[in-house]
Amino acid sequence: MSYNIAIDGPAGAGKSTIAKKIARKLGYIYVDTGAMYRAMALYLLREKVEPSETEKINVKCAEADITIGYENGEQIVYLNGENVNGLIRTEEVGNMASASSPNPNVRKKMVELQQKLAASKDVVMDGRDIGTCVLPDAQVKVYLTADSRVRAKRRYKELSEKGISCELDTIEKDIIERDKQDMTREISPLKQAEDAVLIDSSDKTIDEVADAIIALVR
Ligand code: DC
Repeated sequence: MSYNIAIDGPAGAGKSTIAKKIARKLGYIYVDTGAMYRAMALYLLREKVEPSETEKINVKCAEADITIGYENGEQIVYLNGENVNGLIRTEEVGNMASASSPNPNVRKKMVELQQKLAASKDVVMDGRDIGTCVLPDAQVKVYLTADSRVRAKRRYKELSEKGISCELDTIEKDIIERDKQDMTREISPLKQAEDAVLIDSSDKTIDEVADAIIALVR
């Protein structure tokens, strides 16, 4: 049987950095589910779909084939065969991913793919609904959060280092808006699973959080 670690939490809590680190240490595969929703969002943006056009999202999402592969241990997301890793990290794509992910057809497609991956391999999977919906039987579940200002500062640093100009207040506003959207949607909203361990990373380093999760696994 495969061993599954589920890490959920709001945007910017450090999920992907920490999940990647744990996967490397344990020799597991890291599955970034947000990247899959982002690839779908990129497709919708390219098709000029607005976040509010629910019916159009329903139709258009059937045309997007999202798959993942691995190169040198790094997850690659393919959109209709195209490697889109370099195109999905923008705020525009993130916001569209948040707006289109409540769609049941979008979710069904993604969840099936995620469950298939986790059934055959030891995985560290991060997202919003992994512990509650995708992998309800995961052996370890973590709900990772942090103060919204701390999360905004981390995101600001990340963008500034990439040379992207941005404003801290705008980022924090965006983060709060995205949390609200992800937590209040009807289907699989972001929430802590009953059997998940809550970790607040506001005052913790990446290594402290990673070590705490590895201790849970052991
Ligand atoms: O983790 P992220 O910022 O890359 O995710 C982008 C959006 O995708 C997020 O705002 C909500 C959606 N998402 C989701 O609905 N379910 C997941 N398991 C992962 C992401």
